[in-house]
Amino acid sequence: MKRMYEELGLVNTREVFKKAMEGGYAIPAYNFNNMEQLQAIMIGCAESKSPVILQVSKGAREYANQTLLRYMAMGAVKMVREMGSNIPVTLHLDHGDSFETCKSCIEFGFSSVMIDGSHLPYEGNIALTKQVVDYAHGYDVTVEGELGVLAGIEDDVVAEKSNYTDPKQVQDFVGRTGVDSLAISIGTSHGAYKFKLKPGESVPPLRFDILKEVEKRLPGFPIVLHGASSVLQKYVAMINEYGGKLEGAAGVPEEQLREAAKSAVCKINIDTDGRMVVTAIIRKVFAENPKEFDPRKYLGPARKELTEVIKHKNTNVLGSANRA
Ligand code: G3H
Ligand code: 13P
Ligand code: ZN
Repeated sequence: MKRMYEELGLVNTREVFKKAMEGGYAIPAYNFNNMEQLQAIMIGCAESKSPVILQVSKGAREYANQTLLRYMAMGAVKMVREMGSNIPVTLHLDHGDSFETCKSCIEFGFSSVMIDGSHLPYEGNIALTKQVVDYAHGYDVTVEGELGVLAGIEDDVVAEKSNYTDPKQVQDFVGRTGVDSLAISIGTSHGAYKFKLKPGESVPPLRFDILKEVEKRLPGFPIVLHGASSVLQKYVAMINEYGGKLEGAAGVPEEQLREAAKSAVCKINIDTDGRMVVTAIIRKVFAENPKEFDPRKYLGPARKELTEVIKHKNTNVLGSANRA
């Protein structure tokens, strides 16, 4: 079988998920759009010895150019190998919206794709997901499907309210589509405003009862959590202190993610937290050095801080540090 991604030094998710399931941890899936984010993710994961899923959204493909992204990922693998690191690296399409998008990514060297048919009626979601699985498995690319809808923004689709995954559907969905992993909706959402909290109110717990039901019906099957940024208050405060306006931003508490990572949740998606770290540091540098105009002087410190946050997440939240 021809694996297009092998020459890029990548792996699919099959083996890393199996180990994560057995070891009671989750693989981090970090989104990237530019060189500094990619460097921080790769160095952070290499230094903490964590497997990593590099995630590319439709927006990232449009922003950064697919060809460039392909070689950036390949270069990033070479960079960590030169650092003496052997961590497994997966290049994953985040929220693939059509068969054509997934096909193009597979042919381009991605080792894993998500087909997000969660907004379609159930049978339509199955048909689309199965079409992608049938094609992807011909190249040994693993496929993530989604059942249930997360509130917030998923690329171009904005859902007002979340629609929790119905555990009664998961066996049928996985059996009929052949997906390798399943994203479920248990109360997370995309972006920086995951919970509309009144003053004094605390973040509601994730629906671990739904997760348990899903696990019961799909023993040993890898589950994925989207919208899993914690919206770290340190960076929200820093952004606001240096001229930003993020009021009421709140995310999933780290302890809850740690608990989820010990279960069948094998992949945890984080984008917003990375964006916030970069923005907070850049704002601080500009506020303190208004004369600065060399991008390396503000992107460099942002990259350094993000590297530390990645290491923290791998070590203290996902439990993926020292697993590679
Ligand atoms: O799921 C959404 C991710 O955070 C990607 O966001 O489409 O703005 O790149 P984006
Ligand atoms: P966050 O917005 O919580 O970082 O979620 C990212 C995500 O799910 C990417 O698919
Ligand atoms: Zn997502």
